[in-house]
Amino acid sequence: MIRVTNLHKKFNTYHALKGINMTVKKGEIYGFIGRNGAGKSTTMNILAGLSRPTEGQCIVNGKDVSKLRHPSELAIGYLPEDPKFYAWMTARETLDYLGNSGDNPMTKEAINDILDWVSLNKDADRRVGGYSRGMRQRLGIATALIKDPELLILDEPSSALDPEGRSDVLRLITELKQMGKTILFSTHILSDVERVCDTVGIIVDGRLTMQRPLAKVKREMIVPVYDIVLEEPPNPWLLEALRKHPKISHLSSKETVLSVTTSEPEHFSLELMTFFASHRMEVSSFSRRKPDLEDIFLKEVNGK
Ligand SMILES: Nc1ncnc2c1ncn2[C@@H]1O[C@H](COP(=O)(O)OP(=O)(O)OP(=O)(O)O)[C@@H](O)[C@H]1O
Ligand SMILES: [Mg+2]
Repeated sequence: MIRVTNLHKKFNTYHALKGINMTVKKGEIYGFIGRNGAGKSTTMNILAGLSRPTEGQCIVNGKDVSKLRHPSELAIGYLPEDPKFYAWMTARETLDYLGNSGDNPMTKEAINDILDWVSLNKDADRRVGGYSRGMRQRLGIATALIKDPELLILDEPSSALDPEGRSDVLRLITELKQMGKTILFSTHILSDVERVCDTVGIIVDGRLTMQRPLAKVKREMIVPVYDIVLEEPPNPWLLEALRKHPKISHLSSKETVLSVTTSEPEHFSLELMTFFASHRMEVSSFSRRKPDLEDIFLKEVNGK
């Protein structure tokens, strides 16, 4: 649904995007993560046809964004980072106004359905100016759905919401996927990505440093690490034996401190302790930790 090749964006002399390559497949939820200023919104604005690439190609919904006469040709739903509404309109009036501005005007029933779906039906006739942030965010998602688009680009739909508001938005995103839609959303909340995404893309300083299916990230990168402190520094040949152990994928050591990464998801601690016991090595501490997406993200961001 989206194919980005060597995308660059310069704002005068400032080089914000430095050759992004990314692919969003039909029917998936793609989590686009990066710290403040990494280039998420710049990328998404270009993909929504609101800003031009300086260099590179972006195909969205089969169209080249550089060749658009108007962003509406992309027929996508877009939620900007900070959606703006007329404060004096109600949510119902907002949807009616936006939904009837082009072809295929929206029926009253369709507006009701969308309001229901984002749980704004109770407040639909209140002025948007009095809405909470979470309500505005849900109204933003509702406006992105007006033309029933196949592809949704949502810039931080869940950030700045409380846990309940975030859960609501994540549930809506999951339901959109169940309806067969494709969703690209940005966030800096990694647990949100872990909850709903199929693919994760990490952007660091204008470059996409990682793009992988979440299941693969979990399988390959979120593996247990054992931190062991020995009473005495181990013999070099013992270290070598550990390094060659078929179940140990990585070993680092500094004097009495060892860090062992294994590809075995479970039940490796016994084997490891037996190894130390059989070589009469006293262990003063032994612990197991499992890195999460946060650790992987920090590693990407700070350079390995
Ligand atoms: N119109 C602009 N003119 C000049 N610089 C810009 C403009 N838009 C973005 N930038 C710069 O490009 C870089 C990327 O900004 P962008 O808004 O894409 O980051 P982001 O990843 O969305 O961050 P955040 O998490 O804070 O929303 C920043 O350094 C920003 O200052
Ligand atoms: Mg942004």
